[in-house]
Amino acid sequence: MDAMVTDNMKIFHTIAGVREVLRERRRQGQSVAFVPTMGNLHEGHLQLVRLAREHAEVVVVSIFVNPLQFGLNEDWEQYPRTFEDDARKLEEEGCDFLFSPDEGEIYPNGMADQTRVVVPTMTDILCGASRPGHFEGVTTVVSKLLHIVQPDKAIFGVKDFQQLAVIRRMVEDLCIPVDIIGADIARASDGLALSSRNSYLSEDERARAVILYQALCWCRDEITQGDRDFTALEAATGEKLEKGGFTTDYVSIRNARNLEPAAHDDREIAILGAMYASGARLIDNVTLSLTPTEAED
Ligand code: PAJ
Repeated sequence: MDAMVTDNMKIFHTIAGVREVLRERRRQGQSVAFVPTMGNLHEGHLQLVRLAREHAEVVVVSIFVNPLQFGLNEDWEQYPRTFEDDARKLEEEGCDFLFSPDEGEIYPNGMADQTRVVVPTMTDILCGASRPGHFEGVTTVVSKLLHIVQPDKAIFGVKDFQQLAVIRRMVEDLCIPVDIIGADIARASDGLALSSRNSYLSEDERARAVILYQALCWCRDEITQGDRDFTALEAATGEKLEKGGFTTDYVSIRNARNLEPAAHDDREIAILGAMYASGARLIDNVTLSLTPTEAED
């Protein structure tokens, strides 16, 4: 049942409930910004909520640990679920509506028979290569959520760089009438990107995990200083992760817009990395803009 927990934020568990209240707000001429999440909210998520506040009169956040985007051997069951804490944090940030459906609400015909949304090609690389089916699960649920909420703006973190690019492509290709806004990466004081999965790290791994960000920054500095041997740079960056005691999944220097391998004259570059710790797979990225002369060097 849908319930009101506080004076300021309403929680909905049904599609019909959240649709009804949003229909009324839109009828009053109010704009809507939406932040989809899987809960276990940290400062990175809350930054997205603050950005949503700046962009619209009504802020909607969803919490749904989407089983369709987890592989069979992945952490769907173990994924931290902290609903009460999350709701309190969202209320403090001025979220108006929290949409928290269960699996039956989102997949009433079961997951196997769910109509899928597939963005081809750019989902087979990088994280898609090591997580087959992951992005199909993401685009399917995000398209459903966008249809449910029908926001003017939807906010996603640059932390999941490939996810953001894939969602932008889906929205463009399917003519979904929403502006996608990217939000900067929130980091811990040592530089590690905040992630719900950081809680899977042992104390020792957590202390060393910042190597991912440091190695990507090193790679970025090398490019800025003129090194254009991307293959060698990717290998050297991956070695730094291995020396730090982790297993490199990939380090890849890409065109920031289409995620194709970066060409020497590309101006907008993203360096993406993923590594395995004993209990978690961590991802991060840094971007750089080269001026025309730098790009031609
Ligand atoms: P989740 O991992 O909960 O992340 C929700 C949003 O928060 C995503 O847009 C993600 O990029 C952003 N985010 C996470 N950590 C961040 C950080 N350190 N700095 C900035 N933004 C950060 O991503 C998902 O959920 C799901 O795939 C979802 C889009 C909700 C679909 O199920």
